[in-house]
Amino acid sequence: APAGTDLSAEIRKMCEQKKAVILAHYYTRGEIQDVADFIGDSLALARKAAETDARIIVMCGVHFMAETCKILSPDKKVLAPDLNAGCSLADSCRADDLRKFKDEHPGYKVVSYVNTTAAVKALTDVVVTSGNAKKIVDSFPKDEKLIFGPDRNLGAYINSVTGRQMLLWEGGCHVHERFSVAEVVKLRQSHPGAKVLAHLECKGPVLALADVVGSTAVMLEYVKKSADKEFIVATEAGILHEMKRSCPDKTFLPVPPEISEGSLGCSCNECDYMKMNTMLKLYNALKYEWPVVDVDPEVAREAVKPIERMLSLS
Ligand code: 13P
Ligand code: SF4
Repeated sequence: APAGTDLSAEIRKMCEQKKAVILAHYYTRGEIQDVADFIGDSLALARKAAETDARIIVMCGVHFMAETCKILSPDKKVLAPDLNAGCSLADSCRADDLRKFKDEHPGYKVVSYVNTTAAVKALTDVVVTSGNAKKIVDSFPKDEKLIFGPDRNLGAYINSVTGRQMLLWEGGCHVHERFSVAEVVKLRQSHPGAKVLAHLECKGPVLALADVVGSTAVMLEYVKKSADKEFIVATEAGILHEMKRSCPDKTFLPVPPEISEGSLGCSCNECDYMKMNTMLKLYNALKYEWPVVDVDPEVAREAVKPIERMLSLS
C-alpha cells in the first residue's frame, strides 16, 4: 500500500466493493478486531461462516479456522492474510497418527476439538469447541467408548465434569500450557477481590484455581454480566482488547507465562500465529484476493459431517 494509505478505510471500502466479510478471532490484534465485520470464539466464527451470503470470507485467525470456513462454505472464496498462521495444538495431532490410533482402538468414536486440520476432522465423528464440548460429550450414551483429542487439558477437564474416561490424545497449546500457577496465586494474593478466568486449554492446576472456566466467549460474557470489577485472565492476551472495549470501567490482569530457569522463553502470553494477521496483510489479501485457502474436496466431504453434527448439537 502507498505510504499514508488509511488501511482501515481502504479495507472497509474493498469489503463493500467485493462483497467480502472479515471474520476475526478474539486473539487477533486490536486493529484487526476493530476493522472486522464479526469477532468471536471459534464456535461463533464457524456458525458465521456457515450462514454468511458474502462472496469472499477473509478469516483473520489461524489456518484451521479458515479451513473450517471453506468446508462450511465450499462455493465461497476463503482468504487468510497469512497462510503460515498455524496452531501448535492442531499440529500436535497428525491425521496419519490418528488413523493408526483409531485402528488400535476399534469400537471407539472420535471426538475432536475444532483446533485440528481438515484431514483430522475427516477421521472424526463429532467436532467440539471449548464452548460446547461438555454438552456434546454428554449427548453420547454413558457407555460409549470415546477418543478425545488433541487437547489433553480440555479432555481431562471434560472427563472430570462428565465422569467419563475418554481416551485422551497427548496434545496441547504452547500458549495455554505455559500459564504459571504461581503467577495466578500471586495475582490472587495482590488482588483479593478479583475473579480468575481460565481457558479450558490451561493445565489442570490453573483450571483448579479458576472461578470461571470456559471458551473465550464464555469469559467475555461473564465479565460483561458480572458485578465484579477486577479479573485475572488466563488466556491469550488478545481477548483483553474486547474485554476493555466492552467494560471500560473494569480492570483486567493478564496472567504471565511460566519461564523456566535459564530459558530464553519470551515473557509474553500471546499466540504468535494469531499475531501474524496484520492490517497490511489483510489489505493485500483483499486487494489481490490471495492467499486462497482450499481444502481437498474429498477431505471436505468427510470433514463437513462432524462439523455439521456439532452445529446441530450446540
Ligand atoms: P475459543 O474456542 O475459546 O475461541 O478458543 C480457540 C483457541 O484457539 C484457543 O486457544
Ligand atoms: Fe492454537 Fe494455542 Fe494459538 Fe489457540 S492460542 S490458535 S490453540 S496455538
